[in-house]
Amino acid sequence: MKIKEIKTQIFEYHSLEELPEEDVKLILESRKAVKNSYAPYSGFHVSAAVLLENEVVINGTNQENAAYPSGLCAERVAIFYANSQYPDVPVKAIAVSAFTKSDYLKNPIPPCGSCRQVLLETEIRFKKPIRIILAGKNKIQVIENAKSLLPINFDEHFLD
Ligand code: THU
Repeated sequence: MKIKEIKTQIFEYHSLEELPEEDVKLILESRKAVKNSYAPYSGFHVSAAVLLENEVVINGTNQENAAYPSGLCAERVAIFYANSQYPDVPVKAIAVSAFTKSDYLKNPIPPCGSCRQVLLETEIRFKKPIRIILAGKNKIQVIENAKSLLPINFDEHFLD
């Protein structure tokens, strides 16, 4: 028997001033777009801003549905839209913000398992790490690539 350990690096910040300008811009874009969320069932409004290598920023928000499983998370809305519009342009970074009741969440929200799988697929597709910026109001976490969020993952190799 052997034990394998997996380490994940999370870079944590407590104010926007500590972050590079490119990250700050993307966080502000994600906050701005949260109003476009359609979340009448959960009241949990999530927004994701995706930065592409050609400097284009794509916003996505969660889109809920009365048939609950038909809805989609902000991260996947943004990534799928970006990949549909710019199929040849790598994704550099994604910033995620959430808003409930009357304010942005204090703590960062981590992407769900399905969104991690989609982020990882995109990272593999373009062979470029995606910088993941989880932006709470009082705490910001940066993970340097999607693989770190899903270290034991299903990918194309298993389909051979
Ligand atoms: N949600 C996201 O959009 N992204 C996440 O990372 C977590 C959850 C959405 C899905 C649903 O519309 C609402 O938040 C509550 O789960």
